[in-house]
Amino acid sequence: MALRWFKVCRTDELKDGQARSIRLAARPYAVFKVDGALYGLDGACGHMKANLASGRLCGDVVECAMHGWEYRVTDGECLTVPGMRLAQHPVKTEDGQVWIGLEWPADASGTETNGEDR
Ligand code: FES
Repeated sequence: MALRWFKVCRTDELKDGQARSIRLAARPYAVFKVDGALYGLDGACGHMKANLASGRLCGDVVECAMHGWEYRVTDGECLTVPGMRLAQHPVKTEDGQVWIGLEWPADASGTETNGEDR
């Protein structure tokens, strides 16, 4: 596997207190913006896999839209179930776009679909 960068959205489409996500190989990956900083996480809630980018972001905590589980977006820690943590992913801005870096199989081309889920 190698780190690959996937386009999430334009930088002007992601404001403080918002999230955007992409779906790759049927899994969501989310980028949250808090106080000007960007945080990339696995986007599937640990409960029933709802897309956390559709949740409500309050400060640095996102509340899942389905049943209210909470996660700290700065480190992926689940505040509802101690010990559960979402994987973190690097994020960068380049060429006016927000990108998320994922360890990705080199032969996964064709599975990626860019676009926001909310
Ligand atoms: S799917 Fe997220 S709390 Fe149930």
